[in-house]
Amino acid sequence: MRIDIVTLFPDMFSGPFAESIIKRAIDRQLVNIAIHNLRDYTADKHHVVDDYPYGGGPGMVLKPEPLFAAVEAIKGEEEVPVILLTPQGRLLRQEVVDELASYERMVLICGHYEGVDERVREHLVSDEISIGDYVLSGGEPAAIVLVDAVVRQLPGALGSEASASGGSHVTGLLQHPQYTHPQVYRGWEVPIVLLSGNHAQIAKWRRERSIMRTLRQRPDLLEKAELTPEEKRRIREQPVKLR
Ligand code: ADE
Repeated sequence: MRIDIVTLFPDMFSGPFAESIIKRAIDRQLVNIAIHNLRDYTADKHHVVDDYPYGGGPGMVLKPEPLFAAVEAIKGEEEVPVILLTPQGRLLRQEVVDELASYERMVLICGHYEGVDERVREHLVSDEISIGDYVLSGGEPAAIVLVDAVVRQLPGALGSEASASGGSHVTGLLQHPQYTHPQVYRGWEVPIVLLSGNHAQIAKWRRERSIMRTLRQRPDLLEKAELTPEEKRRIREQPVKLR
């Protein structure tokens, strides 16, 4: 996979991409990430990337020319998805991550200030993604989140210590509680079933705890989760306080 990122702040990516799973995926050549400074695509002496909004109002708007110049230079003749990181985009859920993980290439544009000129949205960008219902100072942290979530899905990106499919949100449920040594810490014991070696019992316990945790923390997820009729009945029978 190749990911090109267009940004006003290239240095923001050096730390996150030099550690952990993203670094390993780069080292293993599973992904090639190129960072492009938007200012390098300006044609004027002062490398101006933004200007006042037509119609007035606070803040600045990213000008279309450098963004078109950057993306067109990066794409060349290829058809490549161009994704704008913006709080107005569709929400980055696991299904969206899986969709993006199937792409061979993508260009990410990190928005800034009061936004980008609407003609960029209309004629340059093919997708808009938000990482959550809050406003960041720019698209860079969102691009880092997106790259992390996508790259860990690439075959070979994870070592044996982690599994792309084992974590939260893949089953539509939150992850079950996990424990490691010591068996007793400050008097708090690891649930006895986990020490039993009975894999069927352990799987049953984990499933139940996943469901209860989801019910408590993210009941909205339960609507889409795959539940047996028995599990649905158990949820209905939970005391109202849990819901
Ligand atoms: N830029 C600013 N806020 C953002 C968000 N929540 N998601 C993606 N890009 C953003």
